[in-house]
Amino acid sequence: MNLINNAVDAMADAPRKQIEISLEVGPRLSVAVRDTGPGIAEPDRIFDPFYSTKAVGSSEGMGLGLSISYGLVQSFGGNIRGTNAPDGGAVFTVELDYWKEDKVA
Ligand SMILES: Nc1ncnc2c1ncn2[C@@H]1O[C@H](COP(=O)(O)OP(=O)(O)O)[C@@H](O)[C@H]1O
Ligand SMILES: [Mg+2]
Repeated sequence: MNLINNAVDAMADAPRKQIEISLEVGPRLSVAVRDTGPGIAEPDRIFDPFYSTKAVGSSEGMGLGLSISYGLVQSFGGNIRGTNAPDGGAVFTVELDYWKEDKVA
């Protein structure tokens, strides 16, 4: 939800607004959320708590969404990353291990 909300925010002024969600069923499950916004300004900072490029006082703009998402995904042993697509827009990818019943105590 956070990735989709961020994609919607990023595309506010974009001429074409499109979100593509794709699943890759490989050794791990990989979910990618891609948008047609301007892309990520500072990819190295997006997971930092309180990093935000959004206007102060807007409903978003606390800069905690991706930091929380990062912690959650890490706690499941997964991986989250955000990059810019070569032909424009941002792509966020979440990789997770499959749930296995025999892992539960
Ligand atoms: N889809 C995206 N496209 C471009 N920049 C993004 C995208 N998602 C996140 N960002 C950047 O990462 C920052 C941090 O995101 P987040 O932690 O969710 O905080 P917030 O949404 O409150 O700003 C955003 O302010 C924005 O600069
Ligand atoms: Mg956000």
